[in-house]
Amino acid sequence: MKLEERVFSGMQPTGSLHLGNYLGAMLQWIELQKTHNCMYCVVDLHAITVWQDPAELRDSIRQVTAAYIAAGLDPKKSILFNQSQVSAHAELAWIFNCVARLGWLNRMTQFKEKAGKNKENASVGLYAYPNLMAADILAYRATHVPVGEDQKQHLELARDIAQKFNVDFQKEIVAAGFEDGVFFPQPEPVITGPATRVMSLRDGTKKMSKSDPSDLSRINLTDDADLIAKKVKKAKTDPEALPSEVEGLKDRPEAQNLVGIFAALSGTTREAVLAEFGGAQFSGFKISLAELATEKLAPMADEIKRLKAEPDEIDRVLADGAERARVVADPVMRKVKEIVGFIG
Ligand code: TYM
Repeated sequence: MKLEERVFSGMQPTGSLHLGNYLGAMLQWIELQKTHNCMYCVVDLHAITVWQDPAELRDSIRQVTAAYIAAGLDPKKSILFNQSQVSAHAELAWIFNCVARLGWLNRMTQFKEKAGKNKENASVGLYAYPNLMAADILAYRATHVPVGEDQKQHLELARDIAQKFNVDFQKEIVAAGFEDGVFFPQPEPVITGPATRVMSLRDGTKKMSKSDPSDLSRINLTDDADLIAKKVKKAKTDPEALPSEVEGLKDRPEAQNLVGIFAALSGTTREAVLAEFGGAQFSGFKISLAELATEKLAPMADEIKRLKAEPDEIDRVLADGAERARVVADPVMRKVKEIVGFIG
């Protein structure tokens, strides 16, 4: 089992995707698809770590799959699938529950944020969430993981788990034919581009998120052209003109966010955006940003709608993807079981 470069990433099917998901992760996914073997997962097992209405969950899984395809992921080229159809994720996660240490999980900031004050009432799954994420990646011995900045800590944990597994089972790994003693790779986070952390349109110090109660805080990938334009127009700004250098964005979170969004949507850098708009007022900049955003995003919303109207077709894509994913995961899991000492 030679270690080949493989890309793995995923998104939770909890409602509709937003601009942060698109610019922070998906744009990189689409780029990597051109050069690598890629697997893009709809992580439904992760979604149920907080309560999901079953009918809405089913709808969201299809919705996210439709968004993957509408954004430009090709189900013939990349493996698109939902996590619960491939049992290796849950199986390996259990083994990792026994490799990861409580102290490691206690440091996870996302658990603290999501559990809030009422930690005692959070699900055990929410706590063990990062172990499942490590299993997602390592069940395929994936080497590259394109994500937004908020996932960095989870990926560090996945690297620690891979490392501890390799050390704990060193002898068995060598005996299983891995002479260098390395069974799991150290997965590399790929956190690149001008928008690795897209912020709320209402508050430049808060991350754009599905859970923000204000719909004006985010652009959903299902928003139509009018709504996109309205949200850009209403986005919070400060009273100064745009600076001509990136350093001038310091301590101006809203300006920084909108310039980053513009750069990512137009496939350039923040420097290039400021070279064009430095000195301009926000009113003018927002008109250009609204045009750019509607041009890029509105056709995607139409395509999502079209794809969603054919749920059987989406389910076929997911079933095919799951079958191909199992072909990659099965031999890895057979070796894992041998290494750990299980029979059969
Ligand atoms: P999730 O579903 O919260 O987000 C999916 C992807 O979108 C990125 N993202 C953002 N990027 C920039 N700005 C934002 N405001 C923003 N909001 C979200 C996330 O960083 C992520 O890349 N735990 C993961 C899902 C997951 C996963 C995995 C990812 C499960 N298993 C294995 C990679 C590999 C999550 O909850 O992402």
